[in-house]
Amino acid sequence: MESAEIRRRWLSFFEERGHTVVPSASLIADDPTLLLVPAGMVPFKPYFLGEVKPPAPRVTSVQKCVRTPDIEEVGKTTRHGTFFQMCGNFSFGDYFKEGAIEFAWAALTNSVADGGFGLDPERLWITVYLDDDEAEQIWREKIGVPAERIQRLGKKDNFWSMGVPGPCGPCSEINYDRGPEFGVEGGPAVNDERYVEIWNLVFMQYERGAGDGKEDFPILGDLPSQNIDTGLGLERLAMILQGVQNMYETDTLRVVMDKATELTGVRYGAEHGSDVSLRVVADHIRTSVMLIGDGVTPGNEGRGYVLRRIMRRAIRNMRLMGATGPVVRELVDVVVDTMGLQYPELITDRKRIETVALAEEAAFLKALKGGTNILDTAVTETKAAGGKVLAGDKAFLLHDTWGFPIDLTLEMAAEQGLAVDEDGFRRLMKEQRERAKADAKAKKTGHADLSAYREVADNSGVTEFTGYTSNEGESKIVGLLVDGVPSPAASEGDEVEVVLDRTPFYAEGGGQLADQGRIRLATGAVIQIRDVQQPVPGVSVHKGSVQVGEVTVGASAFAAIDNSRRRAIARAHSATHLTHQALRDALGPTAAQALSLIH
Ligand code: SER
Repeated sequence: MESAEIRRRWLSFFEERGHTVVPSASLIADDPTLLLVPAGMVPFKPYFLGEVKPPAPRVTSVQKCVRTPDIEEVGKTTRHGTFFQMCGNFSFGDYFKEGAIEFAWAALTNSVADGGFGLDPERLWITVYLDDDEAEQIWREKIGVPAERIQRLGKKDNFWSMGVPGPCGPCSEINYDRGPEFGVEGGPAVNDERYVEIWNLVFMQYERGAGDGKEDFPILGDLPSQNIDTGLGLERLAMILQGVQNMYETDTLRVVMDKATELTGVRYGAEHGSDVSLRVVADHIRTSVMLIGDGVTPGNEGRGYVLRRIMRRAIRNMRLMGATGPVVRELVDVVVDTMGLQYPELITDRKRIETVALAEEAAFLKALKGGTNILDTAVTETKAAGGKVLAGDKAFLLHDTWGFPIDLTLEMAAEQGLAVDEDGFRRLMKEQRERAKADAKAKKTGHADLSAYREVADNSGVTEFTGYTSNEGESKIVGLLVDGVPSPAASEGDEVEVVLDRTPFYAEGGGQLADQGRIRLATGAVIQIRDVQQPVPGVSVHKGSVQVGEVTVGASAFAAIDNSRRRAIARAHSATHLTHQALRDALGPTAAQALSLIH
């Protein structure tokens, strides 16, 4: 069964069972805690948290996802991909464990003629969370799975959250036994290559707080309702239904590997090293196309860096297999042709995608030249001083300035007989990441802990924006944070974050900076506002300092923006659109605008 058919079949199975079909959201997450969408549930997070009313009680989607923490595993295992599609069915306070388990079993085991995927029920193994007797009972008694094919696993495997504060809950996974040729028996608790996880059913019922990793975090309480979030890996199911050994051999990736073999002359299956390279190329070029398609451009930070890193890894792997000239155009075209069956916008956008990808290839080939000179000099100096190890700061410079992935530096140094101080390199990388994190936190655009804002939002509701028609107006203080902590009052000199019931202040968005201005209280108190953000959708948080007097929650206030500043920003915003249009008139529709800073 082809990937496009798996997707179609999934959506109709759930549509026939009362679910509203929701198209995939962009890979660029509309969520300040994420760079890219890593799971199908991301667009629905506000519904789980009860912040926004869902459009329907049951929905289904096939969501584009990117995950990069396991990037080093790509190509080495059978099932790690940076881009994948997550098929999901979701219930917002509608059906719960029993409904989710019954739907999942029917979808997997109903015959193909009957709209299912026709898997052999005997090959399915189930895991449930340690104390989830209820889920185990449903699997045994309602579905009839024998007890020996149900295993209990701990928090790391069977309790799901996004890794940051937000919704979470115990989960139950469905695993497929690929047979003895994939290793020892004993179920998914023993061998996750042979018993490959295909579908995760999350019983989303709690809210978690800040903490480390997958296991160490507090449960803050129950969500407003008991929900279902499921995720089936389309590529993994394709691997099983197409009878291939790994996900890179499935229909949409195999064609990219074929193109890479054609361009390099390397044969797939000939040797482990080049097989890994071929898989890396297929995975990474596909991810690059999907990211560029959603408007990401290569850069040195954030999403742009994710894209740059995977594109450069792909190009580097092509060179390892012997390619010397440009290769990206042909690889990109294959991905656009294949993935275009599911995402027709890729075909319409082909020219822009190619242009961005080719520019990055040219930049990398140039950097390889420049970086190679720096590396050669550093190697000569190190050797002249009698050293055997290239300093960590040199590797960092090559990475930071020339975009050299560390594996490239390691390899090129080894060719000249030197090791690299990897610890030093990683320490500098860590320091840089910490600087970036602190910066993101200050801007509230990175991995921020949103629980305090959510608490305020729960009490205050959504802010009414009056700033399209007026620059000032009466309002009331409905939420107040002092040094990031909700407080009933603040006094002169305090750094505060204020939520009003209605405001003329524009919160930073769409590249346009926030308004600045003043909030005055009837008591004579004055708060000078320098920034406004919406860390929780719809709730404007005014940041500033109390200049005079006492500020209390519930007080009447008069909010006024700095008019001449707003007018200047408005002119800059219009100018941005006019410039963009002029560029499109001159260069054509591939002149795309992204990441403006309008100030
Ligand atoms: N959110 C869960 C996951 O990503 C199930 O969709 O695995």
